[in-house]
Amino acid sequence: DASDIEKGTYPHYMLKEIDEQPLVMRKIVQAYQNESNDLTIDPSIVGALNEADRIYIIACGTSYHAGLVGKQFIEKMAKIPVEVHVASEFSYNMPLLSENPLFVFISQSGETADSRSVLVQIKEQGYKALTITNVPGSTLSREANYTLLLHAGPEIAVASTKAYTAQIAVLAILANVTGRSKGIEMEFDLVQDLGIVANAMEVLCDKKEEMEEVARQFLSTTRNCFFIGRAVDFYVGLEGALKLKEISYIQAEGFAGGELKHGTIALIEEGTPVVALATQESVNLSIRGNVKEVVARGANPCIISMKGLEEEDDSFVIPEVNELLTPLISVVPLQLLAYYAALHRDCDVDKPRNLAKSVTVE
Ligand code: AGP
Repeated sequence: DASDIEKGTYPHYMLKEIDEQPLVMRKIVQAYQNESNDLTIDPSIVGALNEADRIYIIACGTSYHAGLVGKQFIEKMAKIPVEVHVASEFSYNMPLLSENPLFVFISQSGETADSRSVLVQIKEQGYKALTITNVPGSTLSREANYTLLLHAGPEIAVASTKAYTAQIAVLAILANVTGRSKGIEMEFDLVQDLGIVANAMEVLCDKKEEMEEVARQFLSTTRNCFFIGRAVDFYVGLEGALKLKEISYIQAEGFAGGELKHGTIALIEEGTPVVALATQESVNLSIRGNVKEVVARGANPCIISMKGLEEEDDSFVIPEVNELLTPLISVVPLQLLAYYAALHRDCDVDKPRNLAKSVTVE
C-alpha cells in the first residue's frame, strides 16, 4: 500500500525505485538460486516451456517492452520460438496459434484488465498460462497455472522502473534454466553476469548529476524527442520513449534505426533531440550512420553507448556487461533522463496526469 511505503530521503518514489534496481537484481538472483548456488526454476514451469512448440508473451506498456527483450532470451538460450503481443490487440487480432502454445503473461501489478481478458479467453480454449508478476496473489497470478515472482518490492510510482528490469532478469533466468534443462550449453555464467549488471547499475545510479545535465541540455524546452536503436537497443528505445512521454509530456517516439529513412526522418528539424543507443557491436556502425543522418538535418544527438563502443562525442557511456543483458543497464540513464526532464518541467513525477498505476479497465 502506497501510504505504508516510505520515500525516506527521496523526493519521489520514482527516484527511489530507480536506485533500488541493483538491490532488486541481487534479490532476484538469490530468490532463484538453490543450495549449490545454481539458478533454478520450478520444474513444472520448465516442463511447460519445454512442452510448448511456441510461447506467446502477452503484456501491456512497459511489461510489453520487457517481453520484447524476453523473446530474445527465450529464443537464444532455450531455442523456443516466441511471439510478443500487446494484450488489448491480441483479443480480437488473435494470430493463428501453434499446436502446443504456452502463454506467458507479464504484469507488474497482476491486475491489468487487458491482459486478464486474454487470460480468460485462452483458458476457455484449454491453454496453459504462466504469469510473471510482482504481486503474489494478484488476479493474473491466481488465474494462471504457474507464477514466477519478480521480488522487486512494491512499485509506487506510476512510471515503472524496477519492475521492468526485474521482469527482464527473471525472463533471463527462465530462458537460461530452460535452455540448460535441454542440454543447451551457455557460454556465460548468468549468476556472475547479473552480479556485474547490479554493480554497473550502482555505478549509473551514482551518476545522476550527469543525467540531470543531459536532461537539462536536451529536454528542458523541447516539444518532441526521438529514441533510436537497432536490435535490442530498439526495444530499450521504445521503453525510453514511453517513460519520457508519460511523466514529462514530451511527445516521444522510439523506433528502429533502419526505419528512419522510411518516414520519421521527415520530422527532424534544427535542434530536435535524438537519443541513440549504441550497446550492440554488430549494429554499432549502422546506428552511428543513423546519427550522422539526423545530425546532417539539424538534430541534437544524445548518444548513450556501452564501454568499448564509445566515441568522443557520446553523451553518456554505460559500463560493459554481457551483450544480451545490456537492456538492464542502458534503460537506467533513460529512466533518469525522463525523471529529470519531468522534474525540470515541473511535472508531477510520481502521479502523471491521466494515468493510473494499474489499469483495471479494458
Ligand atoms: C509503465 O511506466 C506504465 N505505467 C504502464 O505502461 C504499465 O507498464 C502497464 O500499464 C502495464 O502494467 P502491469 O505491468 O501492471 O500489467
